[in-house]
Amino acid sequence: MFPEIEFERMKRLPNYVFAEVNNIKMEARRAGEDIIDFSMGNPDGPAPQHIIDKLKETADKSKNHGYSASAGIYKLRLAICNWYKRKYGVDYFDPNKHAVATMGSKEGYVNLVQAIVNVGDVAIVPDPTYPIHSYAFMLAGAAIHKFELNFGQDFRVDEDLFFENLQKTINESIPRVKYVLVNFPHNPTSATVTPEFYQRLVDMAKRERFYVISDIAYADLTFDGYTTPSIFGAEGAIDVAVESFTLSKSYNMAGWRVGFMVGNERLIGALKRLKSWLDYGMFTPIQVAATIALDGPQDCVQEHIAKYNYRRDILIDAFKDAGWEMNTPNASMFVWAKIPEKARHLGSMEFSKQLLTQAKVAVSPGIGFGHYGEGYVRIALIENEKRIRQAAKNIKKYLKSLDK
Ligand SMILES: Cc1ncc(COP(=O)(O)O)c(C=O)c1O
Repeated sequence: MFPEIEFERMKRLPNYVFAEVNNIKMEARRAGEDIIDFSMGNPDGPAPQHIIDKLKETADKSKNHGYSASAGIYKLRLAICNWYKRKYGVDYFDPNKHAVATMGSKEGYVNLVQAIVNVGDVAIVPDPTYPIHSYAFMLAGAAIHKFELNFGQDFRVDEDLFFENLQKTINESIPRVKYVLVNFPHNPTSATVTPEFYQRLVDMAKRERFYVISDIAYADLTFDGYTTPSIFGAEGAIDVAVESFTLSKSYNMAGWRVGFMVGNERLIGALKRLKSWLDYGMFTPIQVAATIALDGPQDCVQEHIAKYNYRRDILIDAFKDAGWEMNTPNASMFVWAKIPEKARHLGSMEFSKQLLTQAKVAVSPGIGFGHYGEGYVRIALIENEKRIRQAAKNIKKYLKSLDK
């Protein structure tokens, strides 16, 4: 209607790379095909019963139906601080200063970036990355500098190389870098870091004067004795960092949209202030149920970890039998798999399309996560054992067909 009115900000968002694969998937489904779907990090089970019960009980009370608190009800913010105390020994978080409840961690992250970034600011995001980690900055008008995230076959980040690359990127950046994003266990690769990593990062942040935003969405989902460190295990982190967590993964509550961010009072204050203009908080019963999730019995989290661990083992074995070998992750709900040798020339997008159309298996092409994601696909462990085995059979046939 008015083409001269341009939506400049929308132009900063590219066409979603995953949309291409998604569209083929939806078309196939509409045509009645059964697609085995490993493409999204969307947990497949229900939330634990005691959390659902609390939601229902609280929803039955009419006093809970009005506007809620945009920063989150006090009890939830207290539960968030206690979660950090129990899990990471952090005893200095004040629910009024250092914690904010968010509508999923994605909302908190995007709004934090909106609140603190000036047009032209520089942020560093290692590549590959969960797309919103970089596009939140782009939407806000920042420039993104990237470097390759390097890790070994055991998915441990090469920390010396990480800091070498980070320092180099900082040194080369004009204007200077103001924000660095880190996310471990990492989406899409599942890569992990040690507690020393965060101490080095905090020390560098103080020296080079940048803020750190850490995302530990997969903090609970670890296997084989690995545990996820928090940036708040590092001395002085409160001066330079915030960290986000979500109930989506550990508690199967992705559709509930509840997460949180903690840390530096100035950054948390900016997020709270922006949110106080934008929203009235999540529906109170969701916040009460989230409080119970964090404070209540944690066997459900252990069950979810066991489920992903089991599926990981089944998938890696079954896909190996099908002719596709991959390294074993020790965290997250993803397997970051190198494209099998004989299909590598296709690239991750075409390989994902062929897997979908010929093997009826959906995965996420690595290129969708950034330049350094090429050559890989991300497989989310959200299908059950039977369907994983079926997927392996289909893939075996497809890989054989490439020999012809
Ligand atoms: C690394 C990472 N951070 C954040 C999120 C967003 O989670 P939420 O459901 O809390 O918005 C995801 C979701 O997949 C994720 O992978």
